[in-house]
Amino acid sequence: PNVLLLGPPGAGKGTQSTNVADEYDIPHVTTGDALRANRDMETEFGTPREFMEAGELVPDPVVNEIVAEAVSESEGYVLDGYPRNEEQAEYLADITALDVVCLLDVDESVVVDRLTGRRVCPECGTNYHVEFNQPEEAGVCDECGSELVQRDDDTEETVKDRLRVYHESTEPVIEYYREAGVLETVDGEGSPEEVWEELRATIDAAV
Ligand code: AP5
Ligand code: ZN
Repeated sequence: PNVLLLGPPGAGKGTQSTNVADEYDIPHVTTGDALRANRDMETEFGTPREFMEAGELVPDPVVNEIVAEAVSESEGYVLDGYPRNEEQAEYLADITALDVVCLLDVDESVVVDRLTGRRVCPECGTNYHVEFNQPEEAGVCDECGSELVQRDDDTEETVKDRLRVYHESTEPVIEYYREAGVLETVDGEGSPEEVWEELRATIDAAV
């Protein structure tokens, strides 16, 4: 299936898209990870790092190109972190057809705690949380043994900027898909397992 996950920063898109990719054996396409891997790449607009550390969107042409390449190479995918504005949504509609769009619904107070407590593996990308999703050994990745780090943009100040950008630019994308009749809402506030159960049922019902 062609699956899109939407939701605010910290909604659990990265956590759940890994489950979706495993379950349906499809690639996980996430513009955030792709940009972090290329954060110092020189583009005509500057480097992705400058935008990401400010919590702002990286310019559309840079991000559109990443997505076009990833979805054209694949039979089925789970896309997370894109589209983030209406222009990107229109671009995506021109290059692929989505089967289902799932909005992970969470309150803003929840996402701030999730983001400031998040720890990530710099090697394999697995997400943890100091309270809600701890690795077996504190500070060490279960999957590959690397030392966990905090993302540059997970400071309280940058989280505020990311939420502002979400309200301004990305919330209209939710309405775009609601009007297109493909939007499903999943409660994102349960445990990761509970959210996954509802998400899987939602995707299965839609495809
Ligand atoms: P991106 O990497 O996409 O970040 P984001 O959208 O802000 O989302 P996050 O990765 O922060 O959160 P998530 O929803 O994946 O949550 P997670 O599963 O990790 O983008 C970063 C930057 O890149 C942007 O600011 C922008 O600059 C740029 N960018 C990316 N895409 C772009 C685009 N299309 N256009 C332009 N610019 C773009 O979970 C969060 C935490 O909560 C974790 O610690 C996790 O363990 C924990 N958690 C997860 N689920 C639960 C649960 N159910 N209960 C308790 N804890 C949970
Ligand atoms: Zn790892």
